[in-house]
Amino acid sequence: MGSAFGNKVKISVFGESHGTAIGVVIDGLPSGEKIDMDEVYRQMARRAPGNDKTATPRKEADKPEILSGLLNGVTTGAPLAAVIYNTNTRSADYGNIMTSPRPGHSDYTAYLRYEGYNDVRGGGHFSGRLTANLVFAGAVIRQILKRRGIDIAAHIYSIGNAYDSPFEPTGISAELIERLNGEKFALVDPEKEDELRAQVDAVRVKGDSVGGIVECIVQGMPAGIGEPMFGGVENVISSIVFGVPAVKGIEFGSGFAGSHSVGSENNDEFYYDENGKVLTKTNNHGGALGGITSGMPILFRAAIKPTASISIEQNTIDLQSGENTKLSVKGRHDPCIVTRAVSVIEAAAAIAVINML
Ligand SMILES: Cc1cc2nc3c(=O)[nH]c(=O)nc-3n(C[C@H](O)[C@H](O)[C@H](O)COP(=O)(O)O)c2cc1C
Repeated sequence: MGSAFGNKVKISVFGESHGTAIGVVIDGLPSGEKIDMDEVYRQMARRAPGNDKTATPRKEADKPEILSGLLNGVTTGAPLAAVIYNTNTRSADYGNIMTSPRPGHSDYTAYLRYEGYNDVRGGGHFSGRLTANLVFAGAVIRQILKRRGIDIAAHIYSIGNAYDSPFEPTGISAELIERLNGEKFALVDPEKEDELRAQVDAVRVKGDSVGGIVECIVQGMPAGIGEPMFGGVENVISSIVFGVPAVKGIEFGSGFAGSHSVGSENNDEFYYDENGKVLTKTNNHGGALGGITSGMPILFRAAIKPTASISIEQNTIDLQSGENTKLSVKGRHDPCIVTRAVSVIEAAAAIAVINML
């Protein structure tokens, strides 16, 4: 399995949804970095299940236990290892998917790839639960980045057909970053909350699910970072963001919409500010030109698909009998993954960024 990411700061993720524990080893962190564990818990609580009506009702404390790499709250330079125990599993809910793969989930492809030996319970290693590891690593790394002037924030850009106000592409205020970093239903415009929640409520009652988009901004990134052709900013960020289960698309800056505009609209004109710093008037390039940071905020959006596990009956196959069959998925699933994915996408961005510095 390719469950490790990064060269400078390498994270290695392990665990299965219904095994004893999940965990992460972070190798290559600088020593002497103070880590505020309350802030780590705060970030993990934003992703944890059972905290919002748009998410699964399954309660899980998601308290990481640090095994090494941290002494008196300061990094030692040794690999930082943490485990998070699985305390609330109901494997019986997954009985029918052992042989009948869920449409839209990884059950069928994992069965092919691992010849049926993979742990299917709760989605096994493919479960969204594994992203608790990313949020842990991200929460540690974000504190190190913050000390170097780099801040990261994300919000729910859309759910179904309802939209939050987008980020101002040339940059957002420190107050907005701070507020969003504490939110479980992170919106630029809190007045849109009812409209976005209504999209989830409408599908939940039918046993269906809905997708959406998470928008993320990285501010304070120095200009001139990135290793084209294949180690560019977009390459590295995309690579880890696609590691987040349910992400099916990513766009930077004006993205796909930019392809419908003309050059004179899409080009970002340069200027010197009052301190002689080079900036651009707009940020359609999303902070990277030729894969190298321009000094403008890195701005990207990740498309999250509707949750695969739905209770509405769908067609599938029975791998044992070789017959076509039907499946209605049981268990406690997120009717919408977008809410919980916000802190995961921020964490993924942090892990990508520290590896580019
Ligand atoms: C935070 C989070 C929670 C998730 N919860 C669920 C869930 O409850 N049910 C489900 O079917 N998929 C859930 N997923 C998505 C699946 O893990 C994912 O769709 C599956 O592994 C297949 O991978 P793919 O969609 O990237 O192709 C979740 C993903 C994340 C990031």
